Amino acid sequence: MRMYDVIAKKRDGGMLTREEIAFAVNGYVDGSVPDYQMSALLMAIYLRGMTDEETAVLTDVMAHSGDMVDLSAIQGVKVDKHSTGGVGDKTTLVIAPIVAACGVRIAKMSGRGLGHTGGTIDKMEAVPGTRTALTQEEFFRQVNEIGISVIGQSGKIAVADKKMYALRDVTATVGCIPLIASSIMSKKLAAGSDAILLDVTMGNGAFMKNLEDATELARQMVAIGTANGRKVAALITDMDKPLGQNIGNSLEVAESMAVLQGKGPTDLTEVCLQLAANMLVLAGRGGLPACRAMAEGVIRDGTAFVKCCQMFAAQGGDVSVLKDPSRFPKAKYSYELTARETGYIVENDVEKIGNASVLLGAGRIKKEDSIDFAAGITMHKKLGDAVKAGESICTFYANDPALFAAAEEMYRGGLVIGPEKPHVPPLIYARVTAQGVERF
Ligand code: URA
Repeated sequence: MRMYDVIAKKRDGGMLTREEIAFAVNGYVDGSVPDYQMSALLMAIYLRGMTDEETAVLTDVMAHSGDMVDLSAIQGVKVDKHSTGGVGDKTTLVIAPIVAACGVRIAKMSGRGLGHTGGTIDKMEAVPGTRTALTQEEFFRQVNEIGISVIGQSGKIAVADKKMYALRDVTATVGCIPLIASSIMSKKLAAGSDAILLDVTMGNGAFMKNLEDATELARQMVAIGTANGRKVAALITDMDKPLGQNIGNSLEVAESMAVLQGKGPTDLTEVCLQLAANMLVLAGRGGLPACRAMAEGVIRDGTAFVKCCQMFAAQGGDVSVLKDPSRFPKAKYSYELTARETGYIVENDVEKIGNASVLLGAGRIKKEDSIDFAAGITMHKKLGDAVKAGESICTFYANDPALFAAAEEMYRGGLVIGPEKPHVPPLIYARVTAQGVERF
């Protein structure tokens, strides 16, 4: 078989066989297929698409390109959750302890932030001392003992995806539904959980910009998981606004702890409750209303917060900052970005908000960049809110005041204040399961 012929077949709109897909992916992993040929194939897939069958095969081949984690040493149903990415998206830090406090085991591998989006592992490392790289034995023991562990994804999971994602990132082939679906699901299938809840974000801060594309991505991922014997559901959630008020690692941890203690922002709390309730449904704990009540109950009685503290303590984290976030190391400088006119916030580009926080030091532009955990943004006014000229829209935090100017330019580049209150999108658009799509 020649890679040239595989590329040409897809370029001309053909359907690739399992052998052809395996030849390309495994060859790329072992180095016999060079970057330029894989780039050409990815672009052909981007332009021509893939059938559901091809996407399922691609996912399977990518999942088996690395370790397939066997979680059978952990008792009970294991539920995973994945978000397709966002700004201010700290839901894992809230949901995982809620679900674990309800008695469902969480053995979760999470990622780091890249570009304008944040990642759970960076947020966890903002808690001084927290270890996110455990041995498999430590990971299993912790889940069996306290019911929860969240660690960084091992480099040996879905090795093909790691290499292909890096290539897609620089060849303008990220935003392709079959490639995103196979990338995400290969990692989720390899990570070994019995059930998976997908949070498919939609809006100007997400990969999927409209409901049709988000629904199609959700449908494909649910189909792949179901075909592989996993229970899968997806919620399509809004990313035309960041979740909560805070963007930046320690700021987001503090906000997550507020939600777990019943005093967090309403948008973040609501999305977390719905995601947690759906995870509990997948774990077989009952219908949606009963599972929602269960999730609310463990916030109200404090057990979800206790579970979160137990997890951080088990992984070496300084729990005192969770109990009293004022103990987090603080940024040396802050800056108020004020409204230049009176009206309503009619546009507030989420990608630009995320990029502004990266410019303050809260994220990485390149993988090897280091992060300033104290840097970030607290939003006082969000899309749809009324503002008066001179009022603070948000506060920037950084350890170098020279960073404020570029961050302000970025933030203002996506900010429009107008006379009319705009339509504010709902928090959750739809739920997608193997049975179909339920629009909200
Ligand atoms: N997240 C992933 O893991 N892969 C993609 O392709 C897009 C988002």
